[in-house]
Amino acid sequence: MSQHTNIAPHGGELINRIASASQKAELLSKAESLPRVTLDERACSDLVMIAIGAFSPLTGFMTQADYQPVVDTMRMASGLPWSIPITLSVTSAVAEPLTVGGLVRLDDPTGRFIGVLELSEKYSYDKKHEAAKVYLTEDAKHPGVKVVYDQGEVNLAGPIWLLEREAHPLFPTYQLDPAVSRKMFQDKGWKTIVGFQTRNPIHRAHEYIQKCAMETVDGLFLHPLVGATKEDDIPADVRMRCYEIILEHYYPLDRVILGINPAAMRYAGPREAIFHALIRKNYGCTHFIVGRDHAGVGDYYGTYDAQYIFDEFADGELGIVPMKFEHAFYCTVTKSMATTKTSPSTPEQRVHLSGTKVRDLLRQGELPPPEFSRPEVAAELINAMKNS
Ligand code: ADX
Repeated sequence: MSQHTNIAPHGGELINRIASASQKAELLSKAESLPRVTLDERACSDLVMIAIGAFSPLTGFMTQADYQPVVDTMRMASGLPWSIPITLSVTSAVAEPLTVGGLVRLDDPTGRFIGVLELSEKYSYDKKHEAAKVYLTEDAKHPGVKVVYDQGEVNLAGPIWLLEREAHPLFPTYQLDPAVSRKMFQDKGWKTIVGFQTRNPIHRAHEYIQKCAMETVDGLFLHPLVGATKEDDIPADVRMRCYEIILEHYYPLDRVILGINPAAMRYAGPREAIFHALIRKNYGCTHFIVGRDHAGVGDYYGTYDAQYIFDEFADGELGIVPMKFEHAFYCTVTKSMATTKTSPSTPEQRVHLSGTKVRDLLRQGELPPPEFSRPEVAAELINAMKNS
């Protein structure tokens, strides 16, 4: 596949595992005769991420030869950096009748046939070990660890095929898969593109760090995650409306592209920051924003652990440059957004913002103040809360 930006996908080649029309017809003809596995929401989105090349160089769910070093040392068997295990985990009862070497039909949670797995291996794994290494805690209350503990005890591995790339039911126009985003960046003549991961409604600290980054690169790829998130996170449709609103009022539209990231959230903090960066590399970004407690939850990770982890790789090894930002706040002295690097304020003179705080205010029916959110965004959020 041709490359559209200067940056190579992870591993060198953009993977495409979407079945061709003839492959699809052949798979459909076998549909009723194949053994079936039903995927949960996370596995469905992993299937899509693999198929569209967002997880390049992965062509399927991880074999043990990749899984173990990924968990232990953040590297695949080839030595290539990779920080999160991508597994299809099922119960022994589901795994037992499946034949290695055979084809497995993959259904979504509603029973729809969405893909196939060329089953190359079945292996058991140590959940606590995975939790401790990847999530840095064995606490079952951690939302990512809970998923690992609740899932099956056997991993099914092998290459996959997605039957069809369907339009996203809610955000079809923002579904910009890696081949598309790469082409868009090239058409715009952008050489340097910074990616921004988010799972929260946009607040002013987000806007501040995005715009600081935009001062030094050609374009911003706003890439909110719309896959599975935890119960109390704000729904993706509300977040996307907030993005549309803020872009219209506060951003130079010719320097921003908004697209959805169909991945599921893991809340793995530092490990997920590396993962998020590699995904954006596959979408064609050259730079990636990592702020405070990136992909964190509760108090499991230190404020800047997700930045320090990038130092565990040699310069240039990841192939995407992290842009690290300190905890941003509203400075009441200079009356602007700032960090301790740029603000003369004392701690009492700072208004600290976070997605969690905004969610708490909204739950109490209060409008986040202008130091927290742009008023148009706050209005949309409170409106969504009333209608939920
Ligand atoms: S995340 O789980 O996707 O990381 P969130 O949407 O809140 O959560 O964060 C998106 C990005 O903005 C992350 O890189 C995060 O570190 C950064 N960020 C969020 N709030 C702040 C803040 N107040 N100061 C600096 N960076 C922040």
